[in-house]
Amino acid sequence: MVSKDKLIIFDTTLRDGEQSPGASMTLEEKVTIALALERLKVDVIEAGFPISSPGDFEAVKAVAQSIKESTVCALARCVEADIQRAAEALLPSNNKRIHIFIATSPIHMEKKLRMQPQEVLERAVRSIKMARKYTDNIEFSPEDAGRSENDFLCKIIEAVIEAGATTINIPDTVGYNLPEQFGKRMKYLIENISNADKAIFSTHCHNDLGLAVANSLSGVLNGARQIECTINGLGERAGNASLEEIVMAIRTRQDIFPCDTRIQSNQLVACSKLVSAVTGFAVQPNKAIVGINAFAHESGIHQDGVLKNRETYEIMRAEDVGWNTNRMVLGKHSGRNAFKSRLESLGYPFRSEEDLNRLFENFKVLADKKHEIYDEDLIGLFKNSNKKEADKITIQNIHIKSRLGHPAQINVVLGVHGVEKEASSEGNGPIDAAFKAIEKIIHSGAHLQFFSLNAIHEGVEAQGTAKIRLEKQGKIAHGQGVDTDIVYASIKAYVNALNELF
Ligand code: KIV
Ligand code: ZN
Repeated sequence: MVSKDKLIIFDTTLRDGEQSPGASMTLEEKVTIALALERLKVDVIEAGFPISSPGDFEAVKAVAQSIKESTVCALARCVEADIQRAAEALLPSNNKRIHIFIATSPIHMEKKLRMQPQEVLERAVRSIKMARKYTDNIEFSPEDAGRSENDFLCKIIEAVIEAGATTINIPDTVGYNLPEQFGKRMKYLIENISNADKAIFSTHCHNDLGLAVANSLSGVLNGARQIECTINGLGERAGNASLEEIVMAIRTRQDIFPCDTRIQSNQLVACSKLVSAVTGFAVQPNKAIVGINAFAHESGIHQDGVLKNRETYEIMRAEDVGWNTNRMVLGKHSGRNAFKSRLESLGYPFRSEEDLNRLFENFKVLADKKHEIYDEDLIGLFKNSNKKEADKITIQNIHIKSRLGHPAQINVVLGVHGVEKEASSEGNGPIDAAFKAIEKIIHSGAHLQFFSLNAIHEGVEAQGTAKIRLEKQGKIAHGQGVDTDIVYASIKAYVNALNELF
């Protein structure tokens, strides 16, 4: 048997994924996701961009503290302060990587950086040498490589490898490349850079033309041995290459690929659900691998075929990606210990006994409303509990009257800086009425740019998760709310966004 190369899976859900508008995550949520990625056996977890904010710095540090097996990576520009901050955040990790990037395309160098190519090259080399003081595991990305000139890419990559970079990532930052073109570029670079054998080449493809997975796979067929990707394809604009699609394409087509990953594919669905619950970004039903319809056969001909022989219409087994596996489900009879250990395994750090008691009480209330409590519901519990301390606006009460054929009526009572205020309104359905009543109290004048409402998981008992984007004078605020009552979930999301806005 021909031995297969190892394909490194570099997950950037917590960094590039978090750059999706509205996908920001709390520190606890990032640690929870990082632990799930470790269970999935992701090789490298890019935890964030520590210089970008104190919150991101703390989150990278917390992930570096919690993760023992995967490598933890932090992003930095070719700037000394960025590199120092990344190194500081990664201090708790025994297995760390610093990821350094600078743009190399003519348009980025001229219009954004206002630098000559030679200056860009020198700065990249200086930065790699600086980062080497903290670790030998250095990744370099020529940003917008997808629109860069091959000659310049060869020059700069050769120089950074010489300076100590051990992974060379080729980002198609704006998702402009086509699969054949991206593969050709990968092959050209590997064949024409004299010291290419001293580094692992990697792909980082954005999905603007819906080609991120195809481009990444083409990169692998042409010599790349690391793929950067995200759970559910989360990421800037149209997103990144989706981890679950990449992993299953490679595993299913071992007749074509000369490599394989270490990924525990039966964790893919759980990971996808977790990321969806944390970010509030629903997974489209027909999404490959993790969409609810990915293995559902509707047509009679297909059903008949599958019953006779599964392989007539199925190229993968649903259980191999984590559908239909028995998940531990909590319910109203679950004790405090079972609850605590489930939360701990999700990486939720208890601040105190009171914190645990408060969450356990909320859990019992939820368990009275719905019989089975999944991990996604527990994430919803953190979400609802996280807010309480800092909120200026709180929900005190709501009273809804809704009759078919009549406008819905609602009365909302809010606490505003500790003072109770109430308003009533009619609307085109209870959610519309509720938002109008809230505006009567708050007078935010914000524009509702986006509203979505989805079930956290399947079944009529599922909790609803509402997402909202408000805009006021150019400032954007995102809100999320989770509840078994979808009107209440929507009100929570609206109030959550208002709290961020003011
Ligand atoms: O898309 C991109 O170019 C990036 C780099 C920082 C790797 O995310
Ligand atoms: Zn990117």
